[in-house]
Parts: sequence; structure tokens; C-alpha cells
Amino acid sequence: MRRLEALGELGRIEGPNGEQGCARLALTDADREGRDLVVTWMRDLGLTVEVDQIGNVFATYPGSDPTLGSVMTGSHIDTVRTGGRFDGNLGVLSGLEVLETLITHGVQPLRSVTVAFFTDEEGARFPPDMLGSLVFVGGMSVEEALDVRAVDDGARLGDELIRIGYAGNKPAPAATFPHRYVELHIEQGPILEDLGVTVGVVEGVQGISWTQLTITGQSAHAGTTPMRLRRDPVYAASRVTAAARDIAIDLGGDQVATVGRIDVHPNLVNVVPAAVTMTVDLRNTDEQVLREAEQRLQAAVDQVIADEGVTVERRSLARFEPVEFDPAMVDLVEATAMRLGHSTHRMPSGAGHDAQMLARVCPTSMIFTPSVNGLSHNIAEFTEPDDLTAGANVLLQVLLDQAFTGD
Ligand code: GLV
Ligand code: MN
Ligand code: MN
Repeated sequence: MRRLEALGELGRIEGPNGEQGCARLALTDADREGRDLVVTWMRDLGLTVEVDQIGNVFATYPGSDPTLGSVMTGSHIDTVRTGGRFDGNLGVLSGLEVLETLITHGVQPLRSVTVAFFTDEEGARFPPDMLGSLVFVGGMSVEEALDVRAVDDGARLGDELIRIGYAGNKPAPAATFPHRYVELHIEQGPILEDLGVTVGVVEGVQGISWTQLTITGQSAHAGTTPMRLRRDPVYAASRVTAAARDIAIDLGGDQVATVGRIDVHPNLVNVVPAAVTMTVDLRNTDEQVLREAEQRLQAAVDQVIADEGVTVERRSLARFEPVEFDPAMVDLVEATAMRLGHSTHRMPSGAGHDAQMLARVCPTSMIFTPSVNGLSHNIAEFTEPDDLTAGANVLLQVLLDQAFTGD
């Protein structure tokens, strides 16, 4: 709790009612401050700290048998611009707490235990999300990742990594992958709170589709241009926005759709706009339905192009299929939580996580703790200390189980 609070001071933002959140977008000065603090804590525990070519950071407590693969936990410490203090940070700092617990008790496991924080999990500044863990597992080349441009200021990811001092030399993708990966995270939604359950047993992560649309029309005088002559990209963007919501509601089930970013140019009261850049985030646990949502959105875009005479440039920012976690690892999380006396609920994750990338290379699972009012990506994000402790203890026991198993 002390570390969560201290890390939350870096990039601190405040709401009108005393809420305290975080703005530590990936590879900004605030992210560097957060990284430096967590690395200091890692070194203070005597852990070996390594940084890879994409800026992922690993702290390892060696096991007694160096021939065995390591057990890894972790998450991310970057946040969205209006983020909370728990998203990602909980998983990293709980991992550190587990290592401190082992060290303090003089317990040396058979396998090494590593706690990692991955670069740019949020993808809010440098898309796609989970970029660092994607590169770690070999899903994107490090060269391509280093060339990604920031959506806000156009900065190159590789240059920002050098600027903040986190362009490491450990190879990415990793030369060897972990034996197991387990990640603790806040749920970020309302389900556990609604059910009154303490521990979410995460069975997988839903598919994610991010698209950027650049809509270009004809900039003109707001007073003199008759409606019949307009080619208005804001009108087009609002129709796409409405269509995204209608598609999600019509498909029903788990389908969600979000237009989270709209940049208008020139953004003036008396000018019919020239261009809009907008993003659409579509997610579903079912790949087929997600594809249908994408197709319907494309049809809606085509319709508005025809009706309004705008042009649209389409760019995919992220596309990940739904992921199912390893059944034995999921069972282990559930059994461990039950053994510790906690109520449990099996569920998919609505948010993206580094664990969904690690699941490509090793048996993986996740532990969720409840989010008060289901809020996240919001400065009011909160989880009760008792729930955080419960989650951290489940993490400890799952890691111990895996770190003492030779096969
Ligand atoms: C990233 O973590 C997301 O779910 O948007
Ligand atoms: Mn997160
Ligand atoms: Mn997040």
C-alpha cells in the first residue's frame, strides 16, 4: 500500500472531489520517474534488474536450480492520461511484495521468480496496446516497435526510450520464455462488486480491434455555405460514432464499441471543418462476432462516404484475437483463492493485459480484484485495501506453487 501510494504521487492528477489519479503516459517524463522509483525498489531488495531493447524491465530473484525456467509475474506502470493508481501498478508492486516476502523469510525457490513491468501496455500514446509484451513474445519486431509514432506529438518510440534512459540491451524478443506467467490486476469493471466476490478467476481476454479513421471534407464558411454543398467530416464522424454504438447494441452479448478520440481541424466555431481524426475501439470475446462488428462498421463508413462526399483513410492501430488462458493455470488460481478462504468467480477480461501476450509463449493466468463502482481509466479508480491484500496473497501462493515445482 505504501508503494502504491508513493508511485501514485508521480504524475499525480486530482479531481474536483479530491480524487487522486495518475497521468503517466508511456515514455513521458512521468513514466521515467515511475520507472526510476520502481527500479530503485527492485535494487534495494538486491534483485538483478535487466532492461530489454523495448524498455521492458525485469527483476529476478534466483532459484536454487538455474537449469529450470523462471516463473514470471508483472504488469505495467504506464497509465492513460486520466488513469488511476491501481491499473497495472498493482500487479507490478504485488510481484515485488512477493519477492520481498521470499527474501525476508529466507525462502529460496527452486525456480527463479521474475517480476516485470512491460513498456506501453496502455497503447494510448503509442499504439498498439500491450506493445512491450507483444515485442517480448516475438509478436512484433523490435525495429517496427521502435519506429511507432506517438499519437499526440509524433515522437518516435525509440527516441523517447533513449531520452528517458530505458533503451536496454537485453534482446527482445526474449531468448528464453518464462516457464509460467501469472498477473494480478484490478477487474476494471463492475462484475465482482455486483456479485460481492473477492477474487476473479480470469479465463481469458476478449478480442480487441482499434481503428483510426481520418475523414477529410471541404473546409468552408459556416455562414455562406448552403447545406447542400457541404462535405462535413464532423457530421460524418458523428454518424460513424452513432453507428458504432448501434452495432454494439444490436449485436448484444459482450460486444462493446467506443469512440474515444476525436480531433477536429481547424476546430473553430465558424468554419465547416476540414478534417477529423477519430478512433473506434471494438471488443468481443467471440472472434466471429467481432469480425461482424468490424464489417458492419466498415459498411457504415462506406455509407457516410457516399452520402456526404467525404474521403476516409482507415488505419488499423491494434487487432488481437480473443485469448483463452491455460486451463490448469486457471484451475490453480481458483483452487488457491478457495484454499485461502476467498469467494471466487470465473470470468473473461474486458480489458487488454500483458498476460494475453505471455499466453502465446507459456501457460498463463490472471487474478482479478474488485473495482469500486466498476470504474477504471478514471481517476476515481479504487479497490479496497483488504481486496488488494487478498489478491496479493493469491499471487504469492500461486507463484510459490509454480516456483517449487520442477516439472
Ligand atoms: C488496455 O489495456 C486496454 O484494455 O485498452
Ligand atoms: Mn492494465
Ligand atoms: Mn489500463
